[in-house]
Amino acid sequence: MTTTPSKSALLHDTIQHIDIKAFDVRPVVQAMGHMAFQARNLSRAATLYDAMLRDEKCGVILCLAGSLFSAGLKQVVVDMVRHRMVDAIVSTGALIVDQDFFEALGFHHYKGRADADDNALRELSIDRIYDTYIDEDQLRVCDATIAAIAAELEPRPYSSREFITEMGRYLETHAKTQDSVVLAAHRAGVPIFCPAFSDCSAGFGLVHHQWHRTGKPQVSIDSARDFLELTKCRLAMEDSGLFMVGGGVPKNFAQDIVVAADFVDRPVSMHKYAVQLTVADERDGALSGSTLREASSWGKVSTVHEQMVYGEATVTMPLVVGAAFHERGWTHRPERRLVDACR
Ligand SMILES: NC(=O)c1ccc[n+]([C@@H]2O[C@H](COP(=O)([O-])OP(=O)(O)OC[C@H]3O[C@@H](n4cnc5c(N)ncnc54)[C@H](O)[C@@H]3O)[C@@H](O)[C@H]2O)c1
Repeated sequence: MTTTPSKSALLHDTIQHIDIKAFDVRPVVQAMGHMAFQARNLSRAATLYDAMLRDEKCGVILCLAGSLFSAGLKQVVVDMVRHRMVDAIVSTGALIVDQDFFEALGFHHYKGRADADDNALRELSIDRIYDTYIDEDQLRVCDATIAAIAAELEPRPYSSREFITEMGRYLETHAKTQDSVVLAAHRAGVPIFCPAFSDCSAGFGLVHHQWHRTGKPQVSIDSARDFLELTKCRLAMEDSGLFMVGGGVPKNFAQDIVVAADFVDRPVSMHKYAVQLTVADERDGALSGSTLREASSWGKVSTVHEQMVYGEATVTMPLVVGAAFHERGWTHRPERRLVDACR
């Protein structure tokens, strides 16, 4: 008879975040540029990202989807923020709240098994993301913290960017680690937008808030305001580049701001640079795998400096960002503090 390991035995080995500063990947990425297929595409993506960073007129928008931070990519984004390699972030809520803010509260993601007995995990209140485990009791603390932050705010509609700013403010006094995207972005004036903010731990906190304030003024999230604020960020840049990981809502939201600027009679150029690291391909016609060339037919992305890289982000992102980090094209970039353009 097999016995199920205890919860503490299963939640033991923590996911460690990869540190792109610790090793110089440039020789590998350069060698890949003389290969074929996705190796050459990846090498070109790294060159394009470095070009974005060296282009003095270009602001960089980072778009994130997928379970990237639970998988060990959080520190990559913390370092991008701290080294002015990104000026604005558009993300899924899960990454920002369930994964980054969650870890900032002192919790961890754990190495697990993709072939785990999910019924046994359910009994133990352990949630699984492929080969990674999360303590659901700790996620509930994250949900409750969001509700507590909402309760302290003036009841009115907020953009997700405004609410995430409040999360950053909360972490200034409560964070158990300084290595948080929300905290680093708060300090650097890098706005973070989650266009579908309620589709994550934040949603549970806000449902709790609104449920208990029925009939009274409430905090709510205004996603049109998110779009307006991100459009204002684009208007504050002369040119723009997109660095996209995954696809989904953040990809389209950021691509669309050049069209929105046109729609309010403040026309701007298409995104000058675009890189996407994804596993999605274009055959289903959906947004996540739509090519960047296709986006140019919609007036969103210029076709000159664009590169799709087909591969899983835990492999591709440390290489592309690591190569650009060690090229140091970011050294002379200004701190744009686009958060000031949002108001
Ligand atoms: N992912 C989670 O664990 C999780 C948890 C709670 C809530 N949510 C919510 O679900 C919604 C969808 O989020 P999502 O993060 O699952 O994204 P998503 O399903 O929208 O991802 C879009 C696309 O990104 C690509 N992609 C995803 N992960 C990738 C990777 N590792 N490498 C390369 N490409 C990758 C895939 O092509 C995918 O179809 C969001 O609103 C989010 O807040 C997600």
